[in-house]
Amino acid sequence: MARSSTAFVCQSCGASHPKWAGRCDDCGAWNSLVEEVATPTPGGGVKRRHTGKALDFVDLGGTSEPAPRMLTHIAEFDRVAGGGLVPGSALLIGGDPGIGKSTILLQAVARMAQSGIRTAYISGEEAIDQVRLRAARLGLAHMPVALATATALSEIIPALEATDGPQVVVIDSIQTMYVDTLDSAPGTVAQVRTCAQELIRLAKRRGFAVVLVGHVTKEGAIAGPRVLEHMVDTVMYFEGERGHQFRILRAVKNRFGPTDEIGVFEMTEAGLIEVPNPSALFLAERRGDVAGSAVFAGMEGTRPLLVEIQALVAPSSLGTPRRAVVGWDANRLAMIMAVLDARCGLALGGNDVYLNVAGGLRITEPAADLAVAAALVSSLYQTPLSSETVVFGEIGLAGEVRQVGQADARLKEAVRLGFERAIVPASRTRKRAKIDGLNMNEIDRLSELVDLLTPAEAPPRMAGPQKVFR
Ligand code: TYD
Ligand code: MG
Repeated sequence: MARSSTAFVCQSCGASHPKWAGRCDDCGAWNSLVEEVATPTPGGGVKRRHTGKALDFVDLGGTSEPAPRMLTHIAEFDRVAGGGLVPGSALLIGGDPGIGKSTILLQAVARMAQSGIRTAYISGEEAIDQVRLRAARLGLAHMPVALATATALSEIIPALEATDGPQVVVIDSIQTMYVDTLDSAPGTVAQVRTCAQELIRLAKRRGFAVVLVGHVTKEGAIAGPRVLEHMVDTVMYFEGERGHQFRILRAVKNRFGPTDEIGVFEMTEAGLIEVPNPSALFLAERRGDVAGSAVFAGMEGTRPLLVEIQALVAPSSLGTPRRAVVGWDANRLAMIMAVLDARCGLALGGNDVYLNVAGGLRITEPAADLAVAAALVSSLYQTPLSSETVVFGEIGLAGEVRQVGQADARLKEAVRLGFERAIVPASRTRKRAKIDGLNMNEIDRLSELVDLLTPAEAPPRMAGPQKVFR
């Protein structure tokens, strides 16, 4: 008989260690190692016996049907999923507890059930009454969704194997499920992986779509969705700041569609409501003509999204000035401040700098560089950008302003929302097509932006001397 051995498995990243330690060497999480019995897989070990049947290789070309889709009829959800759920596929929705995963999925299965798709919602966290109460609150109590509470996979699998079993199954959450062949507790990496594997295999065989809910945990007390990302076809994260009512559904992996798509929702008393026009939402709170504010014309996937970037630059009383960034990369901010210093002679070193992306959104595009720089300079000099201006462009270390992708889509969205002026990278390769109603301010260097925002009475700036070594 194979000897079962124990290993210490990090509940955050799944790395296995022979000895316990306070910190996982792989991902750096603290206090996340849990002892687990590594059960040898049945029939494990390398088999060298040949089965006699060779692989059938085929050509790359050939006719295959596009995957059929089951629509949730929540347009934002369907778009992020790449056009609906694919039968026989597995979808993972991760997110912080309480962000609204159960709510959006209940809404989604209810809408699918309404359109005649057989759906099941299996809750391992909430009692039937709790789910019913939520359904009533969402006005979905009359929808033909099959509801059950269960945590043992041995109960769930037979129900899903039935001939007229569901076509879409939600497992809420995968961290509460367990198989009794494993000794470890529900929520450990071993349990989470085994349960997911079983469910995914069944989904492929029976052709239903399985949606797994996974809580993101900071403490590492239970295994996070990361340990499942490689096993499923689609991974989405549901994000948002607790204090804001906006929720963003983001696809980070999709075998059946594009990633980088986001869906924007608003959490209301009646559940999650789609926001078809997020730019208007993110700009709704904006006060015009305030120093330190710039509107960035960004892209999220295929969709343009306008957001306000706010900066506050104030003389510091501390030896090491403060830098605080919300919604953007702190290293990127440091880089832009260094470029402003070295290439434009704008010393921000003695100032506290705060940067905020309004509305609780997180931006990852380098295209936001120029808007961040505009907000910083505007705050430093107390010169507001006119409120009808949008800004985008990437900044290079030499102080040059670089082209970014999908400029036309960004500009069109700006015009649609009533913006009249755009500060954008100068096009080197081709003449930019004129866009009606938009006054273009094409710039080549960051110093041109600084000049635009420098008041007449400001002291002259001095960029560091440039020596050429030969
Ligand atoms: P939930 O879907 O239970 O989160 P998760 O499954 O990700 O843990 O959402 C819970 C939060 O959503 C809770 O704080 C209450 C809020 N909520 C609303 O504001 N309106 C609603 O209609 C519902 C159902 C929930
Ligand atoms: Mg929940």
